[in-house]
Amino acid sequence: MSGDVVPADVFKLAMRRLAAGVTIITTCHDGERCGLTATAVCSLSADPPQLLVCVNRSSQAHDIIKRGANLCVNLLARRHKALAARFAGQKKGVVGEERFRAGKWTTLKTTAPALDDALASFDCVVRETVESSTHTIFIGNVVEVRLRAEGHPLLYAGGSYAGLQVIADRRKRTAVTAVTRRPAKRRRAKRA
Ligand SMILES: Cc1cc2nc3c(=O)[nH]c(=O)nc-3n(C[C@H](O)[C@H](O)[C@H](O)COP(=O)(O)O)c2cc1C
Repeated sequence: MSGDVVPADVFKLAMRRLAAGVTIITTCHDGERCGLTATAVCSLSADPPQLLVCVNRSSQAHDIIKRGANLCVNLLARRHKALAARFAGQKKGVVGEERFRAGKWTTLKTTAPALDDALASFDCVVRETVESSTHTIFIGNVVEVRLRAEGHPLLYAGGSYAGLQVIADRRKRTAVTAVTRRPAKRRRAKRA
């Protein structure tokens, strides 16, 4: 019942605290390429390998994913911050095919564009769609994975792009990671 739910701004404020890996989801149908920046991406199962992605029905890529039944999830590195902003519509007037003028794009098994130096690209054939309110959940079977480049993942947390910082755990002699927005230079200086 919609009357029982919390106000959207409260929900958004709380969700800003969930750090998420940043991806670009791409698709192609009849030669028309499209893509958007997305964090609503999740591993669904390993056998078969499946991902789910949540795409707003108002986004340009939505109907093309539906028609083409393909998508590629490209995991971004810190160096891809400007590319993430470009595919999130933060560069005015840069839409559709124009977005692919930045970055090097190839294809894997499907025709969905794969970013050449993404940390990983998951090429998917869409098997199921679930429509819920403003979004569609696309469930894709992963037909090819490309692990291309080393690097640190690009995250989004608290309304900003962020990176990871390794936190050493002396007792266990292991390392865990946390979100940091401190620039790399300052981090190095502090350690020295
Ligand atoms: C960090 C970040 C994460 C986003 N995650 C999603 C997402 O998971 N699903 C979605 O539909 N839009 C998401 N968006 C919004 C789309 O990237 C944005 O609305 C984009 O402009 C849609 O493409 P269009 O301009 O071609 O319609 C996200 C934006 C940002 C900045």
